Amino acid sequence: MAGENAAPVATVPAPADDAQWWRSAVIYQIYPRSFADGNGDGVGDLAGVRQHLGYLRDLGVDAIWFTPWYASPLADGGYDVADYREINPAFGRLAEAEALIREALALGIRTIIDVVPNHVSDQHPWFQAALAAGPGAPERDRFWFRPGRGPAGDEMPTGWPSNFSGDTWTRTTNPDGTPGEWYLHLFSPQQPDLNWDHPDVRAEHEDILRFWLDRGVAGVRIDSAALLVKDPALPEVPVAPGPGEHPNQDRDELHDIYRSWRRLADSYPGTRVLVGEIWLPDIDRFAKYLRPDELHTAFNFDFLARPWDADELRASIDQTLAAHAPVGAPSTWVLSNHDVTRPVTRYGREDSSFAFAKKRRGTPTDLALGTRRARAAALLTVALPGSLYLYQGDELGLPEVEDLPADRIEDPMHFRSGGVDPGRDGCRVPLPWRGLSSPFGFSPAGASAEPWLPQPASWAALTVQAQQSDPSSMLWLYKQALRLRRAEPGLGDGPLTWREAPAGVLVFDRGERFVNVTNLSDAPVALPEHTAILLSSSPLVDGMLPTDSTAWLRTQH
Ligand code: GLC
Repeated sequence: MAGENAAPVATVPAPADDAQWWRSAVIYQIYPRSFADGNGDGVGDLAGVRQHLGYLRDLGVDAIWFTPWYASPLADGGYDVADYREINPAFGRLAEAEALIREALALGIRTIIDVVPNHVSDQHPWFQAALAAGPGAPERDRFWFRPGRGPAGDEMPTGWPSNFSGDTWTRTTNPDGTPGEWYLHLFSPQQPDLNWDHPDVRAEHEDILRFWLDRGVAGVRIDSAALLVKDPALPEVPVAPGPGEHPNQDRDELHDIYRSWRRLADSYPGTRVLVGEIWLPDIDRFAKYLRPDELHTAFNFDFLARPWDADELRASIDQTLAAHAPVGAPSTWVLSNHDVTRPVTRYGREDSSFAFAKKRRGTPTDLALGTRRARAAALLTVALPGSLYLYQGDELGLPEVEDLPADRIEDPMHFRSGGVDPGRDGCRVPLPWRGLSSPFGFSPAGASAEPWLPQPASWAALTVQAQQSDPSSMLWLYKQALRLRRAEPGLGDGPLTWREAPAGVLVFDRGERFVNVTNLSDAPVALPEHTAILLSSSPLVDGMLPTDSTAWLRTQH
């Protein structure tokens, strides 16, 4: 079944066998719990995705990336994997995933899966075996078990900070009930870190990659890709670690792991891509992961973190392109994902930059302003060179949901910060498809349960159904933009040439006859000479491009 909106499979050609597809691809991120619920239990699932593949084809995406869909207790939304070779029963079964991969491909859409090599679930058989085996047992060597410091062993082996705030070590209890060793978890205690110096860990991950590549996936997103390797001496984090000196980030040994993964990916027909989730402040160190025999691309979080400011965005674009050029890798552009504040909310704030540490409830937000800027940002990023990631719901202009009831929040980031950080559930609320009230078509009529996170009543105006025939909607804008991107020879991978522009305005050429103008200044600007306006994020006023807007122009060569 290819879905209610999908054309019959036979009429749609499979994606061209284009070895370079990933250099320009538009990749739509699906958070399966929140995309569409096929069986009515309030939780999104693969059946729901299969019903909406036609929507994704019509939107114009080249690939979908699924955040983890494997068997998992969902202590961190699936980034705590208990079994890589099974689909989470709440989402479906392996056979459905296999069918989905085929059906999507028949519609011209490739599938990218997520692997989480830094850690597993504490329910993973390896970790359960390690706990049961007790101190000194070889089963423990696949993880980081250590005695505690201090005479009673009741102090953590290191004082390493956690990416989730809180402790990075948890003490175990020995099988005989006495206090035991500690184990390392850079994230939550339900996510014990693997020991990448252990041959089993390496072999198992290569096998997992083969398992999914054999099933036709076109790529793999690598979670926390710069964290896997630890200094086995477990020193403290230096105050200002030099390159390669951090005990658990960006260790030089990582490159060998990714070289071996690249060899594996390259042994498959078609181009199977490796995409790294790499948050590193040093963009040159970041680019090292993208050397021709390592990862294909990595998420460019620098751009996402910048405020809505022309100089900042221009600096990010220039630094990104400069860092990628020597390694020959295309850049990626990412406005959001399942971890960060939705763009229409972020851009509607006085401080529109993003940092995890800054997230607070109750920050004043102008959603109309944020939406206007997010529209301009959408066209700007679609016009930039390289590949593009689009997080589900951003094409609908969904805001961050900031008033989730306390008893519905699940994100460990919230709890581990003692409730200071609102957590990431606000960008994970189930999508509104149609209708005037929740579940807005997320779940089928007569569903037995409410959506796992409540949807705001105001989303009646933001459903797919409400937007799809409204030319002023975000969905319409994205569809037009992606359609033009496909047709326009200068877009996607390739050069970008800046033009001189007034302060606060970003103007660049892509190809021979295409110009992007983004106005971040506080006054309307005149457009450069053009023969047509291909698309504009807000209506022109007296022929001028208003503030917080992007226009795409056809120019005469
Ligand atoms: C990545 C994921 C995030 C997850 C974390 C731990 O940052 O994007 O959602 O919580 O890794 O796996």
